[in-house]
Amino acid sequence: KTESTQTCFDCICTSFVKFFVFLFFLVTFPISGFFCLKIAHQYERIIIYRLGRLIPIKGPGVVLVLPCIDHWKKVDMRTKAFNVPPSKLCTSDGCIISIGAIVHFSIQDPRLMSLSVQNMNHSIRDASQGCMMNLLCKKTYNDIKTKRQGLSYDLQVDINQSAKEWGLAVSRVELSDITLIMAPQNKTPAFMPMYGAPPPPETGDAFTGSGVDNFGGIAQFATQLFAQVANAQSQQANDAEPPTSSTMDNLLRVLKTAVNEELVQEVDTLYQFNITGIQDGNFFADLRTGSGVVGLGVCSESPDVTFSLSMSTLQKIIAGSVTPYNAYIGGQLHMDGDTDKAMKLEKVVKDIK
Ligand SMILES: *[C@@H]1O[C@H](CO)[C@@H](O)[C@H](O)[C@H]1NC(C)=O
Ligand SMILES: *[C@@H]1O[C@H](CO)[C@@H](O)[C@H](O)[C@H]1NC(C)=O
Ligand SMILES: *[C@@H]1O[C@H](CO)[C@@H](O)[C@H](O)[C@H]1NC(C)=O
Repeated sequence: KTESTQTCFDCICTSFVKFFVFLFFLVTFPISGFFCLKIAHQYERIIIYRLGRLIPIKGPGVVLVLPCIDHWKKVDMRTKAFNVPPSKLCTSDGCIISIGAIVHFSIQDPRLMSLSVQNMNHSIRDASQGCMMNLLCKKTYNDIKTKRQGLSYDLQVDINQSAKEWGLAVSRVELSDITLIMAPQNKTPAFMPMYGAPPPPETGDAFTGSGVDNFGGIAQFATQLFAQVANAQSQQANDAEPPTSSTMDNLLRVLKTAVNEELVQEVDTLYQFNITGIQDGNFFADLRTGSGVVGLGVCSESPDVTFSLSMSTLQKIIAGSVTPYNAYIGGQLHMDGDTDKAMKLEKVVKDIK
């Protein structure tokens, strides 16, 4: 009973207000027309909420918008491309990858869209990421790289299906920015802590040398370097000693024994290492001329590659409680510069062993 009274009251009010506003529009016509008549182009529609209610969609052409009581919005019906930012997901073979997409969509039903979606970009982004997660988690990393076309099509169908309830239609999806973040741990024995000779890296492996996932090589190089440092330390049998500059001296001694003319010829790179948190924790390896120079401090020229890490991270890596790879993922080991050059050294360090 009260509901129908309420509805009736609402109805009378609406008519009353509409009548006066329209009257006002007519009385002040030439000027009000300037403010109240909107033009929608062929590809546009105007959504009007009049006193809170959605009235039928207007346009294209000239549309009357009443002052004060209308809230209106123009929507563009053309296809738009939306860039879905990369998100991380785990593939069926245990790789963690980061993948984005470009979604081409258009508004199919402006009425439904206006009523059900607050922010179109957010809805498209969340729907796309959800669909990507569902579909790509069942695929292997190789499948994703090689069968991009087919997967893009499957995704388009999925996202189109989810977007339908919002009055949107998805016409095309392209996968983009496929980056390998972490290879499955069992496929990369070089990342395990080790104190002896490292196993030779698998050549032709899907996870090395593809340009996108250069990190594998760097991690391998770092592991080998730290393994050498660990060797030097255990030879001196002073594992329990707190980190001092003697750790730095060990490191330099190991490096000095490792550099020679042959190495310089193959590498031709200037490396800088920054140990954060200790005084003067910098050293460099200039492997570009002669038989190479290794020294404490910062080299005068700008390095090709810089590795930064704290002494405690270095200690953990030496103790084997964290792998360089995990340190990199966890943000404790930073790499700056040319990844190709970092990989070069990795190859050579392996040869030296
Ligand atoms: C949605 O994304 C497009 C392009 O990506 C941008 O131009 C537009 O401003 C965004 N709209 C909102 C409401 O964030
Ligand atoms: C998207 O879904 C709508 C409604 O389900 C359908 O009519 C349309 O053909 C689909 N578009 C594409 C490109 O698959
Ligand atoms: C390495 O350390 C030197 C000296 O502290 C500093 O100038 C340089 O910016 C550092 N490089 C990186 C990548 O942190």
